[in-house]
Amino acid sequence: MRFRINGQQKLTGTIRVSGAKNSILPIIAATILSNEVCVIDNVPRISDVDTMLEILRSVGGSVAWTGGHQLTISNKNLEPQPLDMKLVKRLRASVLFLGPFLARFQSFRLPEPGGCIIGNRPLDSHLEGLSALGCRWERTPESYEVSHKGLRGTDVVLREASVTATENIIMAACAARGTTRIINAASEPHVQDLIDFLTNMGADISGGSTSTVTIKGSDSFGGARHTVIPDPIDAGTYIILALASKSKITVTDIRLDHLEVVLETLRSMGAEFDRDERSIMINQTGTLKAAKIETRIYPGIPTDLQPLFGVLATQAHGTSLIHETLFESRLGYLSELEKMGASVLISDAHRAYVTGPTPLNGRAIVCRDLRAGASLVVAALIASGETTIENAQILDRGYEKIDEHLSEIGASITREE
Ligand code: EPU
Repeated sequence: MRFRINGQQKLTGTIRVSGAKNSILPIIAATILSNEVCVIDNVPRISDVDTMLEILRSVGGSVAWTGGHQLTISNKNLEPQPLDMKLVKRLRASVLFLGPFLARFQSFRLPEPGGCIIGNRPLDSHLEGLSALGCRWERTPESYEVSHKGLRGTDVVLREASVTATENIIMAACAARGTTRIINAASEPHVQDLIDFLTNMGADISGGSTSTVTIKGSDSFGGARHTVIPDPIDAGTYIILALASKSKITVTDIRLDHLEVVLETLRSMGAEFDRDERSIMINQTGTLKAAKIETRIYPGIPTDLQPLFGVLATQAHGTSLIHETLFESRLGYLSELEKMGASVLISDAHRAYVTGPTPLNGRAIVCRDLRAGASLVVAALIASGETTIENAQILDRGYEKIDEHLSEIGASITREE
């Protein structure tokens, strides 16, 4: 699929942010802990959710859309069978089945997960954490075989504050005998959202949103009702679009407290906006200044917004340093921006300098991962002339109907199969 975008149209209006992708994916996996019905609201209609649900259905989960953004899931008839390799290869988040399956059954085979190619993305923290809880694991050429004879709570020290490793260990520890403490746990808002969902199921978890999470194990979990938090990356994407295109846009239904460092960095670049409790109104008239953009774990600038800051830097005066500290293959989108006229110097796998402001020109470009794709869409919307973005179906993995949202505020964007 390709997007064809005619840039420099006047954009104005309101965009509503979807439920958070990186919340709903672990929450779908967490439903496995219970035999009872779970109802989840504010679920984004994105293809990663469809794939997680397809995997769950393939092992006996009963899943229904019971509203536009509401899912009802029952895992009463779940079977401990291996997951479908093709489905697991479609998304990295399939790794999140590891913790809940081991909480419910004594063995589990996880095919090597696929997903966006943004770096090495090892699973060592997941496996070391599960080993501490009493699991044995073996790597075969195409999968990980993990088993245990009863999970036991203990201290787990993560060398990296990995988001999905923290989530997997929390979900496994919920069913372990005794207490688990995760030291150097990830504290991203979506980890807290998962903890809130598990708490609704009856889990006893404290220390969420901090770097030490404590889980008291239990042997039964009920059904739960939960509303997914708004997606901070969706919000950040549209805020940066408004700034880069100097448009009057309101981004609504968001949690600004999840974006404080992002907003402060944007403010230091000269961004003009007003905010109230659930919305941000952007109306950029002045010039933007270059900045140092260094990605960090929460509450720092999220790596998932780094490519968006990269495109914003092409419109800011001066030289911005883009320092991607988490992943080693997340600067590739800059070569596409260069084709459009950006002034870019990639210094190594983690660092690049972007000098602006430079006008961007429409070109044929290729999207290689989800967030890179979002930055290219923003670039195309501010560029003169026509841009085609190949491989644009990747955007459907994490952005709900991005082309429709953008058309509603005046963008000229068409989807070509
Ligand atoms: N790491 C290890 N060992 C591990 C796991 C991770 O060394 O076992 C390292 C990674 O190499 C990386 C760092 O830890 O340098 C952080 O990676 P993390 O494990 O936190 O990433 P993830 O859990 O695989 C989630 C999101 C990503 C997001 C990252 C960082 C989900 C489903 N995915 O991935 O989201 O970039 O956290 O915040 O939650 C996206 O939405 O586009 C996306 C890629």
